[in-house]
Amino acid sequence: MAFTVAVIVLKGGAGKTLSSIALTEAAAESGAAATLVDSDPMGGAVRQAELARESGRPLRATVLGLSTPDLPKRIGSITPGADLVAIDGPPPGALKIAKAAIESADVVLMPCPARPGDLDRVPATLKMADEAGVPVFGVFNFYKTGTNNAAAAEDLVMAYGVTMLETKLIDSTKVAENYGLRPRGPVARYGRELLDELTRKAAG
Ligand SMILES: Nc1ncnc2c1ncn2[C@@H]1O[C@H](COP(=O)(O)OP(=O)(O)O)[C@@H](O)[C@H]1O
Ligand SMILES: [Mg+2]
Repeated sequence: MAFTVAVIVLKGGAGKTLSSIALTEAAAESGAAATLVDSDPMGGAVRQAELARESGRPLRATVLGLSTPDLPKRIGSITPGADLVAIDGPPPGALKIAKAAIESADVVLMPCPARPGDLDRVPATLKMADEAGVPVFGVFNFYKTGTNNAAAAEDLVMAYGVTMLETKLIDSTKVAENYGLRPRGPVARYGRELLDELTRKAAG
């Protein structure tokens, strides 16, 4: 049985697609069979897989698009033999698909922008996962050490009761420039740390 991670927060631009790619590429890099299921009807992960192929360095994970409330029933047959499956969550309005992604998963990974104004959808995301009985791990993105925003975001996720991973992704143009490419530099490192910490804390 694949270890299945739904990468969900009911907020756009939080780093769901980036985290899904980083996680599955780290697993594939280490020799595991990794599948990324893109549940966004706009197909952002599928598009980035195409771009990576065109760049000459294709993603190593299998990437496929499936955006349907049927996901819990279909996930097993579309990811045969996978060790790790990441489901890249849909945009905030697609609540049925977000719910289906959560119900298909062992664990929810919730990217949390380290900016207080971008954390307003965290409680609704936690509630959805709680109703499905699926544990949630938060991960900070756009993190800037020593800033007021980082401190305020840390206070806020603590007040919301989020279990945060130690892994964080910094806010960086190097990260933004990795769009449509196989993860390298800080994105590749983030993927490896994420895989290691999630596997230890959720699966192991
Ligand atoms: N830490 C970061 N630093 C700089 N840019 C980032 C960072 N994380 C994500 N981005 C960029 O922000 C945009 C939104 O990220 P994405 O993963 O597509 O979010 P989501 O899937 O949650 O909508 C993308 O262009 C991505 O490259
Ligand atoms: Mg996305």
